[in-house]
Amino acid sequence: MRQSSLVVVANRLPIDDSVAPDGACEWRRSPGGLVSALHTLLRHTPATWVGWAGGTGTAPALPDVDGVRMHTVPLSAEDLRDHYEGFANATLWPLYHDSVEQPEYHRRWWEAYQRVNQRFAEATADVAEEGAVVWVQDYHLQLVPGLLRALRPDLRIGFFLHVPFPPPELFMQLPRRAELLRGMLGADLVGFQRAQAAHNFAQLVAKVLGVPATDRRIAVDDRVVRIGAFPVSIDTVEMGALATRPDVVDRASRLRRDLGSPDHVVLSVDRMDYTKGIEQRLKAYSELLADGHVKVRDSVLVQVAVPSRERVGQYQILRDRVEREVGRINGEFGRVGEPAIHYLTQPFDRAELAALYRVADVMAVTPLRDGMNLVAKEYVAARVDDSGALLLSEFAGAAAELSEAYLVNPHDLEGLKQGLLAALRASPDDTRTRMRAMRAHLHEHDIRAWARSYLSALDDSGSLLTRLGATG
Ligand code: ADP
Ligand code: G6P
Repeated sequence: MRQSSLVVVANRLPIDDSVAPDGACEWRRSPGGLVSALHTLLRHTPATWVGWAGGTGTAPALPDVDGVRMHTVPLSAEDLRDHYEGFANATLWPLYHDSVEQPEYHRRWWEAYQRVNQRFAEATADVAEEGAVVWVQDYHLQLVPGLLRALRPDLRIGFFLHVPFPPPELFMQLPRRAELLRGMLGADLVGFQRAQAAHNFAQLVAKVLGVPATDRRIAVDDRVVRIGAFPVSIDTVEMGALATRPDVVDRASRLRRDLGSPDHVVLSVDRMDYTKGIEQRLKAYSELLADGHVKVRDSVLVQVAVPSRERVGQYQILRDRVEREVGRINGEFGRVGEPAIHYLTQPFDRAELAALYRVADVMAVTPLRDGMNLVAKEYVAARVDDSGALLLSEFAGAAAELSEAYLVNPHDLEGLKQGLLAALRASPDDTRTRMRAMRAHLHEHDIRAWARSYLSALDDSGSLLTRLGATG
């Protein structure tokens, strides 16, 4: 077994087996912010990524991806149902996102969660060199730090949660809350997107486990666990370079023409998820059309919503509702050759996304709750001429950093409509001032700055940072 001195452990590998139109297996980059962030960061680093390849049954042997070794962990059909679709995505995901959908609690799901976490811990123990740094990611694997420490006390273990960590009132609902907290405390460093999340965690550790905790450190057994906020980011320079590539510039001009050269293009790009506020946004847009504040011949909304977790009931219901609403709005307000909304569910490559960002005069990112939201950051990075308006939910982690965006509360329909109108009608001077400030922030706080701050807190020797090329 080949071993590495840096091991990243995440439920998702950066590639995913999707079935090609001819029925063959086709490997594609997996969707989602976690993969976007870590894939960019690890490229050409001698690291191993331990994760699931998207199917069931025996784990396929995968080639290296951009120099990073792929180590697959298999999931059975039962694990997929009870661990991934069940405990991870129908218990923890809704609970951690303000319970915007009702979390479900089933003992069978918890058993699967423990079993799969144990399997990930064992796979990681096999591929980690003596004294290696292991970086465990996200809510699917909260027990791995504790399980791995029991197997391999020599490792330096970090844990990072990409999604929000809820306030005690919500977390306390979890039947197995103590075990989950103890699992996370197996790490040397527990990182969150926002300081509020670290605070929630410290409060819960004190309340549930009776262990004294501050927002920065917790003493457990004979160790100190550090905690803190490390807002994840993007490769700002790379997105800017992509957005200025001649083929992307051409593609953007063609897209605008194909959209009927409207005065305003409004864009949204989401995974099809009930946390993203897609229905609220469609309702706001539809009311603006009905009020006559927005006219189909002047404005067009492009909604990209790539399907996600398609076998989970709440996701199926959402997709049906969104598609019905898009159909209704187009039927009611569209004209021949001029739909009010262009609705796309396909995965796009990075260049096509960059072209879409270039075309968007207003980018509407209005989740009900989101750990960070990298789409908002990608849009800002792509606006190399400082134009464009970002409409951003207060409930996205990104709002703490991009405070110059047009901030809205997506639960407040009137506020959402007013915010969208303000972004559509803003003067070029106003949007430029805001965009410049946000771009400056992202140039300083990019994905490498994130890795630098997290990994230097985890590994004080600094050797990891040098290997990642993240020192400068
Ligand atoms: P989440 O992690 O909840 O999906 P983020 O906004 O943080 O939300 O990250 C989404 C990531 O997935 C971004 O990097 C975005 O570019 C990418 N993405 C979203 N939609 C698509 C799509 N249709 N095709 C390809 N990539 C997409
Ligand atoms: C969010 C989560 C990630 C997850 C991604 C895509 O970004 O934080 O852990 O990988 O969504 O979801 P999926 O269920 O397809 O992995």
